[in-house]
Amino acid sequence: MELLLDTGNLHEIERCCAQYAVAGVTTNPSIMSKESADFFELLRAIRGVIGREATLHVQTVGASTQEILRDADTLLDRVGSDTYIKIPTTAQGLTAMKQLKERGVHVTATAVYSVSQALMAASVGADYIAPYFNRICNFGADGAAEIARMAELYRVQGCKTKIVAASFKNIGQVIEALLAGAQAVTVPGELLDQMTANPAIEQAVKNFRADWDGRHGGRAICE
Ligand code: E4P
Repeated sequence: MELLLDTGNLHEIERCCAQYAVAGVTTNPSIMSKESADFFELLRAIRGVIGREATLHVQTVGASTQEILRDADTLLDRVGSDTYIKIPTTAQGLTAMKQLKERGVHVTATAVYSVSQALMAASVGADYIAPYFNRICNFGADGAAEIARMAELYRVQGCKTKIVAASFKNIGQVIEALLAGAQAVTVPGELLDQMTANPAIEQAVKNFRADWDGRHGGRAICE
């Protein structure tokens, strides 16, 4: 299981890397537009924080295949050749993915709403697909069921493409995506914080401490 951060905010990435086992970072143009720092400097700084073992997924903005390939080459040159080039799964995007995979470039197929897109992304050898859980639900469909079908398709066909589920609004969705078979999820840091933010947990910890103090007069275990 891989937990990735869906943010371009360097402070959030630094904080979460200190607290959690962060397997990577995903960005998209909307996420990056919230940050005031220079686009390339920020991405290089993010790479510096997460280290070379983690994956960094950066999205292209071009619409045509040629524009997407130009974006990809610029990112590979200015951010790093190990960058996962995140490309919307359109007809033009698939052509670009195919060419990039033939060159050995890491590719993440994004804006995935359907099993048919998942199928096509795997056929060109995408390393990851990013299905949009919450946005699928916004259409009245079942995000978990769609991801389960993608995972089953990949299992039945022996596809190596991994599912990094994205677009989450609550921790229930994150858990549903992982139970459905996604190998990875990308989430904002605040959702990771909420994983352990149940008031019942705090109360249990307070009660344990009170019982300890009642017997040991407030001493620490090491005293
Ligand atoms: C990440 O890969 C996606 O771009 C992102 O999770 C989309 O999230 P949103 O639906 O909240 O914009």
